[in-house]
Amino acid sequence: MVQETAQHPETGDTPVAQLTTAQARAELAWLAEQIAAANRAYHRDDAPEISDADYDALKQRNAAIEAHFPSLKRADSPSDVVGAEVAEGFGKVRHAVRMLSLGNAFADEDVHEFDTRIRKYLGLAADTALRYTAEPKIDGLSLSLRYENGVLMQAATRGDGETGENVTANARTIADIPTEISDAPAVLEVRGEVYMSHDDFAALNARQAESGGKKFANPRNAAAGSLRQLDAEITKSRPLRFFAYAWGELSAPLGDTQSDAIAQLASFGFVTNPLTRTCDSPDELLQHYKTIEAQRATLGYDIDGVVYKVDDLALQKRLGFRSTTPRWAIAHKFPAELAWTRLEAIDIQVGRTGALSPVARLQPVTVGGVVVSNATLHNEDYIAGRDGNGAPIREGRDIRVGDWVQVYRAGDVIPKISDVDLARRPEDAVPYVMPKTCPECGSDAIREEGDAVRRCTGGIICPAQAVEKLKHFVSRAAFDIEGLGAKQVEQFYADGWITTPADIFTLRARYGTGVQQLKNREGWGEKSASNLFDAIDEKREIPLARVIFSLGIRHVGENSAALLANHYTSWDAFEQAMTTAEIGAGAAWEDLIGIDGVGTVMATSLVTTMQQEAERASIDRLIAELSVQDAEARATDSPVAGKTVVFTGTLERMTRAEAKARAESLGAKVSGSVSAKTDILVAGPGAGSKAKKAADLGVETMDEDAWLALIGDA
Ligand code: IVH
Repeated sequence: MVQETAQHPETGDTPVAQLTTAQARAELAWLAEQIAAANRAYHRDDAPEISDADYDALKQRNAAIEAHFPSLKRADSPSDVVGAEVAEGFGKVRHAVRMLSLGNAFADEDVHEFDTRIRKYLGLAADTALRYTAEPKIDGLSLSLRYENGVLMQAATRGDGETGENVTANARTIADIPTEISDAPAVLEVRGEVYMSHDDFAALNARQAESGGKKFANPRNAAAGSLRQLDAEITKSRPLRFFAYAWGELSAPLGDTQSDAIAQLASFGFVTNPLTRTCDSPDELLQHYKTIEAQRATLGYDIDGVVYKVDDLALQKRLGFRSTTPRWAIAHKFPAELAWTRLEAIDIQVGRTGALSPVARLQPVTVGGVVVSNATLHNEDYIAGRDGNGAPIREGRDIRVGDWVQVYRAGDVIPKISDVDLARRPEDAVPYVMPKTCPECGSDAIREEGDAVRRCTGGIICPAQAVEKLKHFVSRAAFDIEGLGAKQVEQFYADGWITTPADIFTLRARYGTGVQQLKNREGWGEKSASNLFDAIDEKREIPLARVIFSLGIRHVGENSAALLANHYTSWDAFEQAMTTAEIGAGAAWEDLIGIDGVGTVMATSLVTTMQQEAERASIDRLIAELSVQDAEARATDSPVAGKTVVFTGTLERMTRAEAKARAESLGAKVSGSVSAKTDILVAGPGAGSKAKKAADLGVETMDEDAWLALIGDA
């Protein structure tokens, strides 16, 4: 509620220069609340509660205190909030340490492999002690809480892992989240899961039904919907909870082990999961998995698996990360949920690379709380009941329209069909025949030898391929243009506004002024149109890796795009190499397949695409609109950044995989073979032909100790 006077009751008339830090902090908090309430009243409720003059006085006082105490400026500072924009969305927060996801294990075997992989990476013998933690995987949404000097300054959702949404005001309303903690490190980012209990979920849905509000499909959706409320008052009325299980930036370590660190978080007042245990072998992990699974139904909140983490934080550090997941942790998922339903039709979707994918249209059925009406059928072999090698799957039972099929869902994975009930097969059901022409453009659909799928040969003339390519182009890991998602792309394509990626960058010139204008389209207005044009312009300057990924070249995923960008470093060098390379021979080809992680299949696809006339014309038009940022060596201040390194012989202080990952994290390129481009050869005992070649080429050669000294790991 807004106060009657526009002044803090205690310190409001103290000159700013005379405020103590504590007073300034308290007054800033009070001002943030007052101004937010006034904004809500004015902009959202259209019912102003204070005069314009009082409003201005509050804002001025806030600005004056911030100017004098810059370090106290709040994450939700009213000076960063333009009143009218309050309702438009959340502010963005760049995570100081990326928020990652977890790799999955499904079978017991996967858990043993996880342990084996880690031992191999670290060079630990099978009988060396290695401790893990095991804890429930909470089915909610992750949240990062930033405390500075013990005060909750910012709360952010995961978003894309790099940038999340600022939900600070909302997080403050969650009882499990302390707003102040004592004896904490100066910077402490606590991460964990926001969730809703089964009872609270049922009560919320009952209330929603009564008030005619929207019912939530499951507790996870309810938690997400409740946290992501622009009005924190609504969040406050929803009973959310929080389990802490990880951390981000820290000014001082929380402990030597995962379990110590979690205990430390508990001592700060966070709720940590009581089912967390340490385990000394994969068998113990599996045993604890069973214990947790047995309690799943009675926990009172949703969990979807068990997370295993290496306990020793020094080992976690050595293991590090793949592009989006840590090597030191894995999520062991509970078995997928199953349901039987009728297969009503099989539709064909054409993807961006022309693949014809059969999709099952199902009689809607609830699987684990979610209504499923579509499932993937992979390809024609899968429907026919055989795998890629011709071996039977489902004991050779094929799938026909009209069949009763078993659907399963594991986490967020697209639902699949696992079985078919032959006893209930209608008499008139016929085997499914894959179309031989593209249902979208009529071109021939061909299945090449060794390819599991049939592909449309229409290329750029096929509307489905074109739209899918555009959708890929604007997707999160590619250009990620705010306001331009799959839906908008489809509409623009349908009306001929955009046919290839380059057209996106001429939208303003074509539809910003003149007869036909974006702002006059249905669903658009002056502001949203100008926002879109600005968002597009913002992405003209873009990192090389994103550009390579955005092209949607077959076999080139996000990871490979990053490898290629790091290798070639500039668009010109990449383009030059792809244009001159000859498949299967020559220096450019050898250089390409010499990149660790690039095989002949990917290399062939790259070279073919980049040399295909129509594709190339479209790519060139795109590049002309952009300013592609060179790939910087990832750690420019490291002595090996940008250098090409080859490891050979036996390494004694680290495994090959670890050496490679460490070198790459310092911005070096690791290659498998010595060439004139090699900068350093690290040669352990037993080094053979590579050492000789390096000597012939005059490449700097050093032993493992010298390498470790060079990178500061000695
Ligand atoms: S650890 C660096 N522990 O699962 C790894 N995650 O699928 C940090 N999650 O994004 C995550 N319970 O939202 C961890 N006990 C737990 C978890 C957990 C749920 C979520 C989290 C994460 C996702 C990955």
